[in-house]
Amino acid sequence: MEKYIINGGVPLSGEVVISGAKNAAVAIIPATILAEGPCIIENIPNIKDVSIIIKILSEMGASIKVLTKNSLMIDTAMIKNPIVPYQMARHMRASYYFLGALLGRFNKASVSMPGGCDFGVRPIDQHLKGFKYLGATHTIDKGMIDVRSNKLIGSQFYFDIVTVGATINVMLAAVKAEGTTVIENAAKEPHIVDLANFLNSMGADIMGAGTDVIKIRGVKRLHGTTYSIIPDQIEAGTYMVAAAATRGDILIKNVIPKHLESIILKMRKIGVSIEEFDDSIRVFVSGELLKTSVKTLPHPGFPTDMQPQITTLLCLAKGTSIVTEGVWENRFRYVDELRRMGADIFVDGKVAIIEGIGKLESAPIRAMDLRAGAAMIIAGLSSSGCTEIEDISHVERGYENIEEKLRGLGADIKKQVYVDEKFLSAL
Ligand code: EPU
Repeated sequence: MEKYIINGGVPLSGEVVISGAKNAAVAIIPATILAEGPCIIENIPNIKDVSIIIKILSEMGASIKVLTKNSLMIDTAMIKNPIVPYQMARHMRASYYFLGALLGRFNKASVSMPGGCDFGVRPIDQHLKGFKYLGATHTIDKGMIDVRSNKLIGSQFYFDIVTVGATINVMLAAVKAEGTTVIENAAKEPHIVDLANFLNSMGADIMGAGTDVIKIRGVKRLHGTTYSIIPDQIEAGTYMVAAAATRGDILIKNVIPKHLESIILKMRKIGVSIEEFDDSIRVFVSGELLKTSVKTLPHPGFPTDMQPQITTLLCLAKGTSIVTEGVWENRFRYVDELRRMGADIFVDGKVAIIEGIGKLESAPIRAMDLRAGAAMIIAGLSSSGCTEIEDISHVERGYENIEEKLRGLGADIKKQVYVDEKFLSAL
């Protein structure tokens, strides 16, 4: 196993280039199943979650050609069997997008129940509700979800909650259904708009993505396309917080500032200076970091995937801050790790009360999940001693070359192999 060793206390400086958006890539790549012809996808982030999706497609029979480090040509014509077994799907949550994409192409799909980050119960009832409105039935047996329909027919329905995954899955299933589908109370995240743009570039007829009503007129066929994925708003936000936590001054390139609005607003409230340009932003700190309150919400609210990072930053601010998790049931598990670094955080259910302590002390800590792992890196970078972070494979699921990018900003971070105690005790 590997861990990060960080000698913190260095203010980050210089430039960093943001990669393509993970959560757009893990939807767009399975969506190639719907195309009758090869798709060239550019700006694909080189991360573990993407490799898993590519591996699943390739094991199903798709031809994958690597064009450059971040672009692929994918031809799914040879996929004959709409099945994604447990061994393939178990490593990542987004494998459920194969349900919508395979259902859309074959009128049936059989996909193992998803894995991924553990924030408590992660139901898929709304995905199944959407499929049902399109005329599909489902069964769940031994962890496999089977959805099928004689013919998918568009219809109008309302999601009971705002869900990114179900909105995407139903878009995938509906794009070739007969007639018109209207999704009400749809999620509005930038990656939903990106998926709609991708599908439209293949000949789909989707309107309203980015609002809470998405209208999909079914088309008979979708053709191949060339498409470039949007920059990752959460990766950008993570570097913004890292710059602030180290009192650095960095230029973050290849971003869409509009996608960062809620993060920019909150960070300005905390006292961080941010200059916005066309496709880059400068982040620096000259004064004191201030307390604030943050509530995570679906887009355009403050993203839940930035919650651990902002909570870590607020440990360094002056005064008492409150962070409320408005999306996931249980996303404060990482707080114990911050407490090991001296943080003063009280958690009651979905609310964390943070007493700013100005500085975190280095300690051995763990990455509990992807974004919590990013927060631990930020904590390590901000503290003045040597921080060791175990279980970093979580971080590599979603951040391309994070060590190299941070080293490019002057951070002292390296990876080291270690033998896990559980492994030793099993010998
Ligand atoms: N939910 C239901 N029923 C459903 C679906 C969702 O009750 O059928 C609930 C969830 O339990 C949760 C809320 O609805 O409380 C929102 O879930 P959503 O479906 O929006 O989340 P997701 O699609 O599973 C995606 C991202 C997550 C991100 C959330 C929220 C991907 C692959 N994952 O998950 O990203 O936190 O949206 O924005 O797109 C991450 O990147 O670190 C990550 C976890």
